[in-house]
Amino acid sequence: MGFLQEKFLLAWLMISAMSVSTSSRNDHYTPPDLKHLTDLFPPVNFDQGFKELYGGSHIKLMENGSFVNLTLDKSSGSGFVSQNYYNYGFFNAAIKLPSGYSSGVVVAFYLSNAEMFPHNHDEIDIELLGHENKKEWIFQTNIYINGSTHIGREEKFRLWFDPTQQFHQYSIIWNNHHTVFLVDNVPIREAIHGESISSSSPSKPMSLYCTIWDGSEWATNGGKNPVNYKYAPFVASFREMQMEGCMWDNVKQGSFCTKNGQGLSSLDPVEGEEFAKLSQEQRIGMDGFRKRFMIYSYCKDPRRNKILPPECKP
Ligand SMILES: *[C@@H]1O[C@H](CO)[C@@H](O)[C@H](O)[C@H]1NC(C)=O
Ligand SMILES: *[C@@H]1O[C@H](CO)[C@@H](O)[C@H](O)[C@H]1NC(C)=O
Ligand SMILES: *[C@@H]1O[C@H](CO)[C@@H](O)[C@H](O)[C@H]1NC(C)=O
Repeated sequence: MGFLQEKFLLAWLMISAMSVSTSSRNDHYTPPDLKHLTDLFPPVNFDQGFKELYGGSHIKLMENGSFVNLTLDKSSGSGFVSQNYYNYGFFNAAIKLPSGYSSGVVVAFYLSNAEMFPHNHDEIDIELLGHENKKEWIFQTNIYINGSTHIGREEKFRLWFDPTQQFHQYSIIWNNHHTVFLVDNVPIREAIHGESISSSSPSKPMSLYCTIWDGSEWATNGGKNPVNYKYAPFVASFREMQMEGCMWDNVKQGSFCTKNGQGLSSLDPVEGEEFAKLSQEQRIGMDGFRKRFMIYSYCKDPRRNKILPPECKP
């Protein structure tokens, strides 16, 4: 290769390296420093608040149950669920996702009452979807209200960090006023109750679920890139689990509320001002995040919902 060609190749390589780095769109985003809602409540360890859901031998408890590893391999996924049903609350976990090739792997952190209300259940979902490119875990949210599974209220986002490298906080605020999804205390989606279809909102008691499962069929464009078990086991780590709210006692048909992680109070801990409404800073932070990282919203998908739900303002 001649000198000129070599120089030309070098210049071309530099240009393409530059365009790669400018097109890796996650750079240069500094998340706003918003109120740390996750600092308000104590963590709940496994024995205090949770029980096994499935895949027992694939659930590893460490540090007195304050640190949980969930494994998916060829034989099974795994999951745990709250011991109680909550009727409103603040729910959080610091999660670290499996590293390496993770296409088809789904790590879910969600509220549901499908067991108690099989025909008209509610659900508030965070699903982290593994992808062919390990840096592109997709953060998906959904809300189902009173059995409204025919209406997808799905929104998908990219993240500003690689979620396989460190623990990050994923939280849900759910109360009478709204449902809010947060990542590292930055609100990224808010559904104001009363604005949604037929003024209904998720309002029946729900349990909190943490699971890892094979989403090959569902999460990868109809099975295009299924889970490749050559890269198993897939391990998701959970810590700093928080559940603060009011628990529903199905026997007594009444609720009692937690205070600092204990069931003690008659006051709903997520009714206060900081939970009833987003602050202006939080709203600005949310709008900035959504402009930059939202890749799908049901409100912009008339093919899927022929009649857009009323909360989708033009
Ligand atoms: C371990 O957790 C239990 C509650 O599940 C708690 O009572 C105990 O004090 C904890 N032990 C330590 C060493 O933190
Ligand atoms: C929820 O669904 C049930 C059963 O389908 C129905 O009876 C009830 O009125 C619904 N509630 C709301 C608030 O829409
Ligand atoms: C739990 O997962 C972490 C990765 O987040 C790993 O470093 C650790 O070895 C795992 N521990 C057990 C007991 O599986």
